[in-house]
Amino acid sequence: MPESTLFEDKYDKIVDLARRRGFFWPSYEIYGGVAGFYDLGPLGTMLKVNIVNLWREYFVLKHQDFVTEIETPVIAPEVLFRASGHLDHFTDPIVECLECGRKYRADHLVEELAGLKAEGSDVEELDSIIRERGLRCPQCGGDLSEVRTFNLLFRTTIGPYSSDVGYLRPEAAQGMFSAFKRAFVAMRERLPLGIAQIGRVARNEISPRQGMVRLREFTIMEVEFFHDPEGEDPPWDRFSGKLRLLPAEARLRGEEKPVEIGVVEAIDEGIIKNKWLGYWMCVSREFVRELGIEYGETYFEEKLPHERAHYSAQTFDQVVRISRWGWIEVSGHAYRTDYDLRRHMELSGQDMTVFKPFKEPRIVEVERVVADKSVLGRVLGPSMAPFLEALKRMSPDEVKRALEGPGETVTIAGFEVPKSAVRVVKEREKVSGTRFVPHVAEPSFGAERLVLAVLDKAYTEDEGRVVLRIPRRVAPVKVAVFPLLEKEELVRVAREVYMKLMSLGLTVVYDESGSIGRRYARADEIGVPYAVTVDFQTLSDNTVTIRDRDTKQQIRVSLGELHRRLLELLGLAAATALSP
Ligand code: GLY
Repeated sequence: MPESTLFEDKYDKIVDLARRRGFFWPSYEIYGGVAGFYDLGPLGTMLKVNIVNLWREYFVLKHQDFVTEIETPVIAPEVLFRASGHLDHFTDPIVECLECGRKYRADHLVEELAGLKAEGSDVEELDSIIRERGLRCPQCGGDLSEVRTFNLLFRTTIGPYSSDVGYLRPEAAQGMFSAFKRAFVAMRERLPLGIAQIGRVARNEISPRQGMVRLREFTIMEVEFFHDPEGEDPPWDRFSGKLRLLPAEARLRGEEKPVEIGVVEAIDEGIIKNKWLGYWMCVSREFVRELGIEYGETYFEEKLPHERAHYSAQTFDQVVRISRWGWIEVSGHAYRTDYDLRRHMELSGQDMTVFKPFKEPRIVEVERVVADKSVLGRVLGPSMAPFLEALKRMSPDEVKRALEGPGETVTIAGFEVPKSAVRVVKEREKVSGTRFVPHVAEPSFGAERLVLAVLDKAYTEDEGRVVLRIPRRVAPVKVAVFPLLEKEELVRVAREVYMKLMSLGLTVVYDESGSIGRRYARADEIGVPYAVTVDFQTLSDNTVTIRDRDTKQQIRVSLGELHRRLLELLGLAAATALSP
């Protein structure tokens, strides 16, 4: 009996399979493990790489005319997170047991003990619920402390000076914001511009207890999409169509079911506040569908204002239902406006604006400060140069205010000069554009949650045996090769087929032990879409069978066409011509 049938619950079976066959397991198990950290095993790593590559295909390669990918460090100096607001706002509420010292995430504790929805509630609200309901430590029954906030950034120092504080990034986004100007120039100063990044992030969660769902370190896949909110429309011919949405207003009315609405209509009606946010939600719907999560099994839930991150004017979470944890967020879609670039502009002093040409040049009236150098030269002598420098730094309004005082002279930057030597004049000027701070729409995915969601959707049992119906494109191992029996002449050919398919770039496993039925079952259990079997007929006519994991149907193909047929079946065959 396969070990997996020892468990009743589908999620437990998946976790058991993941450990046995090498998808994932808790990290540092030999020391008892550390909550919130998971290793990906051989199959889990391959599955994640395929998911990441599919994400790259959808979010970068299918949009490479205006999306590019960069890589920035995991560790960043404190000023970055002061600018981004994470030092002040990236917090969760924490409460401590005054008896045993255990610490809990206060909103989760309230949800667990009082059955109330509390995520996003502030410290005072949580505190009063705990007092009013007399909630106590679930471990020892002790009194609970006051609720306070706990910052989720992992702190470190950069180099040998303890004053050089750094943090592990909790999102890749700040790397894209701080490098925006460089990437913008490298991409020939055009908007819209998406800057994508795939990389590790860390969040010091208070008490993660949901396995692979809540990790303290994970891989994020993000696009910061810089654009002019009044600029061009997204390419609706690439991705558009209907979205399943649960708007915040509907949630406030107590509704729990998403409505289906065309993306353009949702934007026109103001349900989605930014058109690029809606566009990337459509891309996300299709990406997730290729992972085996059907349209009806995912929707976008709008966050209520108090549930949103500090930088967001509107957020939708794309949720997927998995067997243990209910609806989990697999991606977040935030309209970050110009918040981040403005903050970085303030703290770095660097210009983050972008030139936006007008359709037609415009004639505008501008005020300009003019100085009479012959008078100033006589009055100031060698001090004229520093005076003119100081004057240049003043706005016309500041100069006008200085000139408004009484008397014939004015003191500017410590120099006393005749008022007649400095004037503010109005001039008409032709301007061809204006400068503005780009706005940002951000789709952001967690890769490990997708690994879990893919396994959850793929897990099936067929006559007591596990069949992981992982979509072919992302299946970690694409082909299994078997000799029908462990006979030398069959083994020799089967090993040749195995080596050949491997050299052609497919992920392949070879298995010669046990009955052919057991070997098919072992391949099904890890989601191998096709199994190639070398049998006695192979020795006479050079044909092998290909068995389909899902239908169990077999076809016979010649060895000469095996690779091409497998690529076709796997959906990996290269296009030979561009269709008109
Ligand atoms: N950048 C998305 C997030 O922090 O969740």
